[in-house]
Amino acid sequence: MFAVYADRFSSDDPLSGLVVGERPDPEVPDGWTTVEVKAASLNHHDLWSLRGVGLKEEQLPMILGCDAAGLDEDGNDVVVHAVISSPAWEGDETFDPRRSLLSERHQGSFAAKVAVPRRNLVPKPASLTFEQAACLPTAWLTAYRMLFTRGGLKPGETVLVQGAGGGVATAAVVLGRAAGLRVWVTSRDEAKRAKAVGVGAHEAFESGARLPERVDAVVETVGKATWSHSVRSLRPGGRIITSGTTSGADVEDPELTRTFFLQLSVIGSTMGTREELAALMRFLDSTGTRPLIDRTIPFEDAREGFAAMAEGEVFGKIVFTFGQGAR
Ligand SMILES: NC(=O)c1ccc[n+]([C@@H]2O[C@H](COP(=O)([O-])OP(=O)(O)OC[C@H]3O[C@@H](n4cnc5c(N)ncnc54)[C@H](OP(=O)(O)O)[C@@H]3O)[C@@H](O)[C@H]2O)c1
Repeated sequence: MFAVYADRFSSDDPLSGLVVGERPDPEVPDGWTTVEVKAASLNHHDLWSLRGVGLKEEQLPMILGCDAAGLDEDGNDVVVHAVISSPAWEGDETFDPRRSLLSERHQGSFAAKVAVPRRNLVPKPASLTFEQAACLPTAWLTAYRMLFTRGGLKPGETVLVQGAGGGVATAAVVLGRAAGLRVWVTSRDEAKRAKAVGVGAHEAFESGARLPERVDAVVETVGKATWSHSVRSLRPGGRIITSGTTSGADVEDPELTRTFFLQLSVIGSTMGTREELAALMRFLDSTGTRPLIDRTIPFEDAREGFAAMAEGEVFGKIVFTFGQGAR
């Protein structure tokens, strides 16, 4: 079958190990099923995989992709929950120490078909296209959990979102605005700052800029480049919700003194549960809010999308589709 996969790792030139080609159909263990993929979206995770982060040589070749929307074996429209927990696990899947994401232990979603546990299928609301639905399982679900579950943000509070253009960051801006938060963003890029305001941010600042006042919470996915600014931007008792380190994790000064003196909270967050994915879709359905798509590309041209993400030339999600088949 058609597949986009990693056949080697390179930390300096991740695209050198990317192959757009053919792979065998997926194996389908007991309790699993296959989804005919209509659309899938690119995440920074896919670049990390090409760099060898989270994968071992002996797992290659590995089909990339965490996110997919498509048709189940009965022809129903579904979205795939990308967190694969162990068979006996019950409750919040993100707390399963043996969980993995699609493309980590099991073949990923950038293919004609993907095998997943039956319980990982969530019905796709008719109001969302396959392309929109394909944005949700990683970036949008992560932003939802960061803001509302782990961050506990309430309408009227102010949240700062670092790195306005990223998939998680744009999701946090759009979801935060729709939920009644005051949303501030930073970006290194003037054009991205303007776009962020266009999609709902109340104000946009240069990365590292002094803010007019301190904020209740910060959504952090950038890491090293913004961490100190995130800590310094919080009001006493404020919280940072962190789910990623795009610019690196080796923070020079973690600002520990300020953290205890101002009684700040640092809250980790990873992906989200199947229930949160269903709630996110209800949220979109009832508010009319829609995922922000930077561009939609045929799967055959997937390399173009990877290159844009590697260069940081993205505002919102990059979506891959199969021909005219996806609605
Ligand atoms: N834990 C989880 O469950 C989870 C889930 C999803 C994502 N993540 C992680 O979260 C991160 C973001 O993912 P994504 O898919 O949203 O990635 P992305 O779309 O590639 O995000 C890139 C954004 O990061 C900002 N950025 C990158 N380098 C920067 C630097 N040196 N200084 C300042 N800003 C910088 C840029 O903002 P500007 O250009 O606007 O400044 C850029 O728009 C990744 O590290 C990913 O692995 C984790």
